[in-house]
Amino acid sequence: MSRLDSVIRRLQAQRACLDKAAALIAALPGPIFELGLGQGRTYDHLRRICPEREIFVFEREVAAGAECAPDCERLILGDIRDTLAAAPRRFARAVPLVHSDIGTGDADLNAELAAGIAEYLPALLCPGGIVVSDQDLAFPGTAPIELPEGVRTGRYHIYRVE
Ligand SMILES: C[S@@+](CC[C@H](N)C(=O)[O-])C[C@H]1O[C@@H](n2cnc3c(N)ncnc32)[C@H](O)[C@@H]1O
Repeated sequence: MSRLDSVIRRLQAQRACLDKAAALIAALPGPIFELGLGQGRTYDHLRRICPEREIFVFEREVAAGAECAPDCERLILGDIRDTLAAAPRRFARAVPLVHSDIGTGDADLNAELAAGIAEYLPALLCPGGIVVSDQDLAFPGTAPIELPEGVRTGRYHIYRVE
């Protein structure tokens, strides 16, 4: 598979998983958390498929253009591990969907950051809440959800809080 094929499949997997997650949380109230704004591609997709939701974005440094970034009330700047640690004061068990896309080419760094993020999710997700992630973010009390057709196991992850 060429690098181009691989990028295309990753983006298709992201879109399919976000579309599935949006359907899964349809009956659950509350905001969406987007971890890692990047170029704002998945943020823009989420706001289109969930137009009625507030979306809070966690990012250390904004690189996206203003048209693909949230307003300052919904942009939580800083290292995700610090900002997520403070988030339960405002969003305790109130978040139906967390999408995390924080991976780089460094597998060790990814695993370390994923472990740091997973630590804070139980206090934030509501019962039945969904995690969609490029990294393994499973924690006790979550069950894996079947991936959409065509998404290879391990390419993306979906969990539900039981
Ligand atoms: C792969 S990009 C996200 C791409 C995005 N989903 C999109 O569709 O454009 C990862 C983002 O996570 C951010 N990030 C990575 N580690 C972080 C950390 N520890 N704290 C805050 N942001 C972080 C990076 O700055 C980068 O913007």
